[in-house]
Amino acid sequence: MSDPQDSKPILTTRQGHPVHNNQQQRTVGSRGPATLENYHFLEKISHFDRERIPERVVHARGFVAHGEFAAYGTIGDEPAAKYTRAKLFQTRGKKTPVTIRFSTVIGGRDSSEAARDPRGFAVKFRTEDGNWDVVGNNLQVFFIRDAIKFPDVIHALKPDPVTFRQEPNRIFDFMSNTPESMHMLTWLFSPYGIPKNYRTMRGSGVNTYRLVNVHGEGVLVKFHWMTQQGEHNLTQAEADAIQATELGHASKDLYEAIERGEYPQWELNVQIMSDDEHPELDFDPLDDTKIWPEERFPYLSVGMMTLNRNITDHHNENEQIAFGTGVLVDGIDFSDDKMLIGRTFSYSDTQRYRVGPNYLQLPVNRPREDVQVSTNQGGGQMSYGVDNRGGNPHINFEPSSVAGLQEADESYREYRPFVSGQVMKAPIERQNNYSQAGRRFREMADWERDDLILNLTTLLARCDKHIQEKMVWHFSQCDENYGRRVAEGLGIAANA
Ligand code: HEM
Repeated sequence: MSDPQDSKPILTTRQGHPVHNNQQQRTVGSRGPATLENYHFLEKISHFDRERIPERVVHARGFVAHGEFAAYGTIGDEPAAKYTRAKLFQTRGKKTPVTIRFSTVIGGRDSSEAARDPRGFAVKFRTEDGNWDVVGNNLQVFFIRDAIKFPDVIHALKPDPVTFRQEPNRIFDFMSNTPESMHMLTWLFSPYGIPKNYRTMRGSGVNTYRLVNVHGEGVLVKFHWMTQQGEHNLTQAEADAIQATELGHASKDLYEAIERGEYPQWELNVQIMSDDEHPELDFDPLDDTKIWPEERFPYLSVGMMTLNRNITDHHNENEQIAFGTGVLVDGIDFSDDKMLIGRTFSYSDTQRYRVGPNYLQLPVNRPREDVQVSTNQGGGQMSYGVDNRGGNPHINFEPSSVAGLQEADESYREYRPFVSGQVMKAPIERQNNYSQAGRRFREMADWERDDLILNLTTLLARCDKHIQEKMVWHFSQCDENYGRRVAEGLGIAANA
């Protein structure tokens, strides 16, 4: 019988030098002192000292899996080409590799996955035209509608800068001064705020994009991922029981399902609106604190995503993966959504800091192998390999009469909407902060509404009275019963 020891590769340093002793450092005699010229020891320890990169400033805890997206070739009953020229959607059965990262938002890298928190739902499509990312969440909406408020909402939700504890008083101090957050809070404090696991939750792009067809015509679009495993959530009591013994139950569930060959699926759906301001609506279509009511803007199916392969290394494929809202392919474009534009700066900015300026050269982030990356970018920390420069390595500029790269033809020209107006800092006109929160409250099942009130009052009970009163006032604007029930739960007057 052959000894498995015989077939193991020889341990080396990163320089490729064989290591004959990995158990002892080099010392003068067996008791020391240690010598410092021991390259193997220095390489091993100093690499270990640098094993961590900064965790994400938000969404630090997450889990990654790979799979594929199969297009239906249609958007609802229409050929996909009617709305978009994006190649991945055009043909029925066309497959595009995907990588997905699910996450929580507020906790650190090792925090509980049973926390009440939105869940991140970030998908990277590796298309023949390069990567396309949809970086969304499970709740369809968000707390704020202007990117300039993002650091504030996150500071309020993250631990106190002194006590390093998440404090309800800080959270509701901010929220009570942010009326547009009521819709998101109504989802978050209902059972939807703690999905049972990643497989049983839906996802949404939340922000509004444009689809653009070959004629250069655009429509506004929202993306939605519908879980095929059934939607299931946890009550606070169920979540508490899980996190008493296990912090990573959702990652475990996903990893083990894929290992068993039970491949989870989500159907991609879109909602579409003509590309204008829609004065007939009582909300602004570009306001990400609103859903587009399904009865007016039906869900149209586009294709099916299947996750069928686990990662092989958490650091390389999870810590270093980089999603962004600006990572779009031809046929999918930005809208004027103020959050979307702000997000688009923030993602690649933080990734240049968190992973490094050459983060797009990493295997998990670069486009798939058959996509030629041709740029004149070079240098920077940890640069490896050189992008295609058109065959002449001396020409790292454009234009050149000698060699190098050339611009794509007109068919790749970006969508060019006409925009004119006064430059200003101003809120949007149709804010309508309460009506969708009220509708959501009324449409919940009784047990979900009871759970919402219980969850809100449990945390609000730990807040200052004036903050409680302000929150009750906002909830009363959403629905009289909503405000009344929270007030009753807190033992305060609803009309204070
Ligand atoms: C202006 C508002 C926002 C800003 C400035 C912002 C910024 C950020 C930043 C800096 C990260 C860390 C990225 C990294 O280190 O790789 C992040 C991650 C993330 N954000 Fe946002 N975000 C905003 C709003 C949103 C919204 C509305 C959603 C949901 C629709 C969202 C979903 C996500 C997800 C899913 C991740 C994790 C991506 C991953 O798994 O790597 N963000 N965001």
